[in-house]
Amino acid sequence: MSNKSLSADAACFEGGTSAAATGKRGLWSSRLMFILAATGSAVGLGNIWKFPYITGENGGGAFVLLYLGCIAIIGIPLLMAEILIGRRGGRNPAGSMEVLAQEAGVSSRWKLLGWAGVITGFVLLSFYLVVAGWAVSYIFTAGSGAFNGATSDDIGGLFGGLVSDPVASTAWGTIVLAITATIIIKGVKQGLEKAVSIMMPGLFVILLLLVGYSVSTGYFGQGVEFMFNSDFSKLTGTSVLIALGHAFFSLSLAGGGMMTYGSYLSKDVSLGKTVMTVGVLDTVVALIAGLAIFPIVFANGLEPGAGPGLIFVTLPLAFGQMPFGQIVGVLFFVMLSFAALTSAISLLEPAVSWMTEKRGMSRLKAGVLTSAGIWVLSLGSVFSFNIWQNYTLFGKTFFDTLDYLTSGWIMPLSGLAMAIFTGWIMTRAATHEEVGDGWGYRIWRFLIRYIVPVGILAVFLHAIGALD
Ligand code: PHE
Repeated sequence: MSNKSLSADAACFEGGTSAAATGKRGLWSSRLMFILAATGSAVGLGNIWKFPYITGENGGGAFVLLYLGCIAIIGIPLLMAEILIGRRGGRNPAGSMEVLAQEAGVSSRWKLLGWAGVITGFVLLSFYLVVAGWAVSYIFTAGSGAFNGATSDDIGGLFGGLVSDPVASTAWGTIVLAITATIIIKGVKQGLEKAVSIMMPGLFVILLLLVGYSVSTGYFGQGVEFMFNSDFSKLTGTSVLIALGHAFFSLSLAGGGMMTYGSYLSKDVSLGKTVMTVGVLDTVVALIAGLAIFPIVFANGLEPGAGPGLIFVTLPLAFGQMPFGQIVGVLFFVMLSFAALTSAISLLEPAVSWMTEKRGMSRLKAGVLTSAGIWVLSLGSVFSFNIWQNYTLFGKTFFDTLDYLTSGWIMPLSGLAMAIFTGWIMTRAATHEEVGDGWGYRIWRFLIRYIVPVGILAVFLHAIGALD
């Protein structure tokens, strides 16, 4: 089927109130814009905060190899599936799934899968913005010179002081949410494109500067060695599952954002190369972030396995001891904030696109309403580190519970459903038309039908504790 008849087909599924009909939908102005936005979604706290510390905790090289394997055989095929659904459906996630279910002649209940994306984005943003708020606040902490010559107790106290102060944490989270909402309200071209075309190049430049600095510490070789020495004896069964779960999170899979971004992508763009580019960039940024961070950690005689505190405690300790540490520290947290913000916008966009298309609201109204809801929910996550830290459900704070429900349950299940939908329910002709011809399509189809479902099932079983 040609592109022309495809859009005619899609038009048949458009309801009278669809945003396409009312002209509210935007389209990326170029393939590059889509790549910047999708890479912006993928590159986030996951790459710069989480990847280095879980690599540290899981012993380095062998874990990195596992992670790369998971990205290649599960993550990228699934990213293709998610963007494919969005692009072919051409609406918000729930709308797109409805269109495609109708096209495939299956129950319209498949739109629940789109709904899952919208809800996951909403919930995830409510706790993501708390950590993003810490990142933004650390730009100023680093700039004030507070790390200079500080002891590890001082630095631990600074971070502890921030997370245990509900007012400060709420204020920083609110700033992140306000910036995110302002960008979203302006729309795809005026808001999202402008934001990613400033922040993504900024992020890349800062990352390269930081790697340059890392090389100059003289400990670069030790960082490389740590990240790429493949000592498989350090791996445990859970490392495999952590690697797979993180591949999911890092590529923004099943969070609704990639599906929504796909729906703004023109039919003329080749999906194969575009999706590969996004997947590869996300991975390269995670690896380079590790190569920027570990040499600094080693040069200062610190431990790579410090856990979540690696970049908020260990790294500031290093900034306080090294030459130009104040500038390097500011640059680092600016980079982290850019990464977090471009991910945050992809978490808010699915809900806003649903409200504008389905409920006919303006972006302003939809943006304000969704942000208000997210803000209220985020208070629970802020309080998990202070006044509510003793209120737990099965031993988990509110923050941990949301994280567990989204990453442990909804995301793997949605990923599984997405693989089944694109691999087994959509016709070969339909997916072939989106992905294009050649061996790339055949490999993708094999992976999405057989390998991806089995891989996700493994993560899911782990999440419910069956493999522990
Ligand atoms: N990929 C983002 C990160 O690495 C997080 C994210 C997940 C964003 C799901 C959107 C959807 O931080």
